[in-house]
Amino acid sequence: MGLKIDIGCGSKKKDGCIGIDYVQSPGVDYVLDVTRERFPFEDESVEYVYSSHFLEHIDTPYHLFKEIARVCCDHAKIEIWTPYGFSNSAFFYGHKAFLTEEIWLRFCYNDRDTFLDFLQGRWLLKEINYVVLPQVQQELEQQGFTLDFAIKYLKSVVFEFGVEIEFRRDLNIEPILPQKSYSHLRGGEHFPLPSFDMHVHDPATPQTFLYRVMMLLQRMLWKVRQWGQ
Ligand SMILES: C[S@@+](CC[C@H](N)C(=O)[O-])C[C@H]1O[C@@H](n2cnc3c(N)ncnc32)[C@H](O)[C@@H]1O
Repeated sequence: MGLKIDIGCGSKKKDGCIGIDYVQSPGVDYVLDVTRERFPFEDESVEYVYSSHFLEHIDTPYHLFKEIARVCCDHAKIEIWTPYGFSNSAFFYGHKAFLTEEIWLRFCYNDRDTFLDFLQGRWLLKEINYVVLPQVQQELEQQGFTLDFAIKYLKSVVFEFGVEIEFRRDLNIEPILPQKSYSHLRGGEHFPLPSFDMHVHDPATPQTFLYRVMMLLQRMLWKVRQWGQ
């Protein structure tokens, strides 16, 4: 059994997790700045990483993601919740990043080789879950909008969103497109949404020849860099 950790837990640590935060409060087990310090865990010792409303507070996730990848065992589950970048609640003092599905699709799907230096493996994006409050869904329906359309094109529809990622060390694993779903509250029942059409989002999908050549070159460069370290 691996460890379970909650990054940026504050005083609301997830049950059964080890809490990490740079401010001491009840539930915080390790006080550290995760943007620059090493996690106090062995390599490949963690099976579950949870983080809630923390990622939007840091400038860049590079050191953090590298540490997550170091401590995660193969098949570890990573669950991250943040405000949704197209909602009013995303825009508040102290927030430095405004996250949408774009960053996850880039890290886990489209540009996964570009970011290998800090991803240190494959981050398989399994699901994106949007929390839409029941009264918001009702209003949208009254106005004749489907939820999928509203999430894509309207503001302040999504209350928060979460991603489920599986960490894998085998670089040959093909990327997967995530399932899209919505729920009425975090942890509630997931209802399916139409899946991503990557040909609309980005023509350089893994199916294209150019993408495969780029991927091969970047993987070779990464291996050369690893040998040099
Ligand atoms: C909005 S609170 C979220 C707390 C809790 N996870 C929740 O869902 O309510 C953000 C937390 O991230 C912590 N935090 C921000 N930057 C951090 C850093 N660089 N290293 C560790 N913790 C950090 C803050 O101290 C704070 O407790």
